[in-house]
Amino acid sequence: MQFPDDFLWGAATSSYQIEGAVNEDGRGETIWDVFCRTPGKVANGDTGDVACDHYHRYKDDVALMASLGLKAYRFSVAWSRIFPEGRGRVEPRGLDFYDRLVDELLAHRITPFLTLYHWDLPQALQDIGGWENRDTLSAFAAYADIVSRKLGDRVKHFATHNEPFVIAFLGNWWGMHAPGKQDLATALLVSHHLMVSHGMAIDALRANVPDGQHGIVLNFTPSYPSTLSHADRDAARLVDGFNNRWFINAILRGHYPPDMAQHFGAAMFEMHDGDQALMTRPIDFLGVNFYTRSVVRGGSGLFKEDYVKTDNEYTDIGWEVYPQALFDLLMRLKTEYHAPALYITENGSAWPDVVAADGQIYDEARERYLRAHLAACWRAIQEGVPLKGYFQWSLMDNFEWAEGYNKRFGMTYVDYATQQRTLKQSAHFYQRVIAANALP
Ligand code: FCB
Repeated sequence: MQFPDDFLWGAATSSYQIEGAVNEDGRGETIWDVFCRTPGKVANGDTGDVACDHYHRYKDDVALMASLGLKAYRFSVAWSRIFPEGRGRVEPRGLDFYDRLVDELLAHRITPFLTLYHWDLPQALQDIGGWENRDTLSAFAAYADIVSRKLGDRVKHFATHNEPFVIAFLGNWWGMHAPGKQDLATALLVSHHLMVSHGMAIDALRANVPDGQHGIVLNFTPSYPSTLSHADRDAARLVDGFNNRWFINAILRGHYPPDMAQHFGAAMFEMHDGDQALMTRPIDFLGVNFYTRSVVRGGSGLFKEDYVKTDNEYTDIGWEVYPQALFDLLMRLKTEYHAPALYITENGSAWPDVVAADGQIYDEARERYLRAHLAACWRAIQEGVPLKGYFQWSLMDNFEWAEGYNKRFGMTYVDYATQQRTLKQSAHFYQRVIAANALP
């Protein structure tokens, strides 16, 4: 299975999950710093205070990427390193860190893919209402402006938000992510404000980096009805509207799915004049994060759904391994949405890795997962899907949000006591795939 010559093989991370150094070079506090200190929110009371210490070890980490043969690296910028109070005063030392990182990547011929917002909102902005307050939207546009002015001569791929679904709903409806609210109307308003701020940021990126490729990263969890009964199919349709159609319809079609808006009823927000024009700003690429699917039947949830367990394999975080859903999703994005260039911006799996007596990590399950999902990508490309690259989540084990350090998604094993990095067996496999530009 040979891949196109210019296919971009990459790996992804995010700022709060790997950087550590939370009190260095003037970095401001974020909602995740606060959330981690809130008892009961994060497994084991883990925090991102040290994480993978990437802030100090970035040169070694880039060397590791180069040893893997990576052609691209997706990372995010910590907003509060640039604007410690979220807006206003700029911290030059924060900008300098990303400046050095980008230079280091380019020196190793690794293409930087920069995400502006991967969940670490400056706490100062949360104090004025966070994504519920429209002032945060203009602060985000100002942040996009500064970052792209500083780095846009070298960084040509920018994404605005990572997974607005998770930001809005896990953070504000289910309360399991920062800022930990539990209110549907709040979550819906946040989801819309993320779309508007995305458009505002796209304008800044286009103005500063006209020769760049600008987009957004959405997560998708294809939903399948358990049987062909009406109840199961109705549930699957609503779950699909919520998990998959909500944001992509806003961006590519200019309105939220009518069945969902009707379903949410009085919890829905009002759009302002100009919002629709902003959320539909043309994008050059769509980043696709894919991990698993859901299987639903008629039941008792808000979408009249229950979730069904299958006989397939499940990962350490409880997600079903079902690569066919990635193929189905890519085909749908092509035929139903006429999506622009696509990148898999995240795909990967958590397993309870152990270091063997010989010091190696034999993560066969992760290698199998990777192989099967790459095969799905290859099949989609044969069918004409404009898939341009694949970023594995993650370059290395890291802080997995509410799960803390328990769940390991890395192709590199991190010993948190020593910060030693060891390539897992699956990383060696990935190295061979990249070298051959093909799946053996
Ligand atoms: C995604 C996040 C990423 C990581 C993976 C496992 O939802 O974007 O930061 O936590 O899940």
